[in-house]
Amino acid sequence: MMDTTGSTFLPPGQSTIAGEVDALFNFILYASTVLFAVVIALTIYFVIRYRRRGAVAATSGKDHNIKLEIAWTVIPTILIIIVFIWGFKTYLKMSIVPRDAIEIKVTGQKWFWAFDYPEGVNTVNELVVPVDKPVKLLMSSKDVIHSFFVPNFRIKMDVLPNRYSVTWFEATATGEYNLFCTEFCGTGHSEMIGKVRVVSEREYADWLEAGAVSGEGLSLEEFGAGLYTSKACVTCHSVDGSPGTGPTFKNKYGIRQVMQGGSSVPVDENYLRESILNPNARVVAGYAPVMPTYQGVLKDREIDALIAFIKSLQDSTGNSGE
Ligand code: CUA
Repeated sequence: MMDTTGSTFLPPGQSTIAGEVDALFNFILYASTVLFAVVIALTIYFVIRYRRRGAVAATSGKDHNIKLEIAWTVIPTILIIIVFIWGFKTYLKMSIVPRDAIEIKVTGQKWFWAFDYPEGVNTVNELVVPVDKPVKLLMSSKDVIHSFFVPNFRIKMDVLPNRYSVTWFEATATGEYNLFCTEFCGTGHSEMIGKVRVVSEREYADWLEAGAVSGEGLSLEEFGAGLYTSKACVTCHSVDGSPGTGPTFKNKYGIRQVMQGGSSVPVDENYLRESILNPNARVVAGYAPVMPTYQGVLKDREIDALIAFIKSLQDSTGNSGE
């Protein structure tokens, strides 16, 4: 089992690879610290020992020491070989995905993470995985370069448009871990944050069975309120009237919206649906066409729910969130 306490430099390690990554990190850190201390101490010593005192005497004529030369060539070479072999072995372990891994498709886009499970379930900004099982992540981006980073698992991998990248991990402890985008990808980069929820195998099976979140037993409006956060609308759209990367949802339904180019359209169900599935068909004046499409990410009932939620955000209903 890995060290789960963390250190000054690293958060607790909760994947099978974390122990090895940390050991190598610590080796490099402490070796560098010792070398740094030795070099600085010798420098200070020589500066004092051989400082100019009165007239410069003739030197001893010694300008070579074969033992010293060999020492400062061989010791660093050995250190580098150790770091290389150790690093390469760890790199191979991190690169070779176990055959029995669960494969989950990860899609990065401005500015959220979407996860597709083999069972047909999909989620946004929440990756749910079973503990003690290898998980393979097949990743790509719909727009710019993002980077998938889970500090507790010690995995970080760029997510690219037009090609797939792969990483894997096996979590060793249940719990919730932060998922960050660690490649600057535009205005919403710092909010491209998700969670990895590690659960028991039993809970994982139940969760898949339930189809992640079906919204069963909720009204469309309540279901939509949950989706507003879980599908990452919250990143760009406020519900209290404050401006964001995108227009606020408050008091939006039923108005006439002025679009880029000067035309205006009534904000009704069809306009909202179009904005979710084909967001850049018509862009509100004053905003950049940066919204990603939710085509394939949201089911019909989820779109209905989000529309119902937006409709509920009218002052008259007292549901404005203020
Ligand atoms: Cu995506 Cu930064």
